[in-house]
Amino acid sequence: MKVGIDKIGFFTSDLYIDMVKLAKQRQEDPNKYLIGIGQKKMAVIRPTQDAVSLAANAAAQILTEKDRAKLGLVVFGTESGVDNSKSAAAYLAGLLQLPKNLRVVEIKQACYGATAGLDFAQGYIMLHPQEKVLVIGADIARYGLNTSGEPTQGGGAVAMLVTAAPRIIAFENVNTAAACDAGDFWRPLGETEARVAGKFSNNLYLDLLQQVWQEYIKQTGAKLEDFAALLFHLPYTKLGLKGLRSLTTGADATTSVRLFKQFEAARMYNCQVGNLYTGSLYLSFLSLLKNSLELQAGQRIGFYSYGSGAQAEFFSGLLQPGFERQLVQINPAQQLAERHEISITAYEQLYRQQAVQAAELKLDFANDPAKYVFAGIHEYQRSYTTH
Ligand code: CAA
Repeated sequence: MKVGIDKIGFFTSDLYIDMVKLAKQRQEDPNKYLIGIGQKKMAVIRPTQDAVSLAANAAAQILTEKDRAKLGLVVFGTESGVDNSKSAAAYLAGLLQLPKNLRVVEIKQACYGATAGLDFAQGYIMLHPQEKVLVIGADIARYGLNTSGEPTQGGGAVAMLVTAAPRIIAFENVNTAAACDAGDFWRPLGETEARVAGKFSNNLYLDLLQQVWQEYIKQTGAKLEDFAALLFHLPYTKLGLKGLRSLTTGADATTSVRLFKQFEAARMYNCQVGNLYTGSLYLSFLSLLKNSLELQAGQRIGFYSYGSGAQAEFFSGLLQPGFERQLVQINPAQQLAERHEISITAYEQLYRQQAVQAAELKLDFANDPAKYVFAGIHEYQRSYTTH
């Protein structure tokens, strides 16, 4: 039985900052951000959006009434959880008014959560082929103003519907994994900004990539030439480029040219949004699907997922006949083009208002154009609304 992604949707904020302007404000050479980090714009998340509302805005783009009726499981991958106990998936199910006969769960393993969600979804669909699973990757990447991590912030959500006989990509059933207990990136309980050992995190990302890739090659006998494209978790797009360089050392010229060209298509959206943590790899997949002119049904795509702490996985899938038709309804390029640029001062103000913890909070969401918004907190419980 084929199992994979049948639909994919994406949502981010309507606000962004220009990385050249951020660099100038931070007295850095703009080329450090544009080339050294590989980012052009960065999403700025409003105080009226959190992981749940971002996810709702992404999922609403793909869920039809028929899909809702067949949903059996919602898996919400996030490291921007809004409660230590109640899952973001429970909030999401309420906000989207999903059917009551569901299982809803949140998964945390840094940026790997959505990949774990896809793995669990595949197992679930194998047992329940008539049902569908909604997998979410939604986060707000926060490192702090004036920190070295600042240019690698961002935020947004990717929603994927996993089914039998999928119409976008069917997963091949070899997933190679590597785990280790590492202090490369973490966020202590009660804190709203991540802590990071930047260089160590980069090195670990690249080391684990080699481990899971070599194991995948060993188990499948596949070669680099067998891939139409290789996708990477993109905390910032330069790191994926480094990953691709490390895998293509010694590759033949035709394969190398193809994979680097596809990588450019796969980072187009990520360059303009920044880090989505759990959703980044899947935004890159969407970017490839929408921006590559060379993809064909039957081709193999490789995925490298990495979550600090650390967990890595490599897996692959085959593009399905007519995959383009499944993408007609969503238009991330338009969504990104319609955003508004804000000044660095305005970004800093919004940054300070975001992620406030309170017993009571009433938010003014009149200016937020998103359909689903975070409205406030009452007795420590979040409330959401549509408008
Ligand atoms: N022109 C072109 N390139 C320039 C330049 C210029 N004028 N000035 C600097 N650069 C280059 C540097 O040479 C460097 O390139 P290389 O990495 O190829 O050497 C690059 O720009 C970055 O410069 P620095 O290393 O000096 O930058 P930094 O010390 O300020 O921090 C960072 C960079 C470590 C990525 C930091 O932004 C950070 O800590 N980010 C958050 C952590 C992160 O994203 N880690 C990734 C792995 S962890 C993960 O994947 C999980 C997750 O999502 C967080």
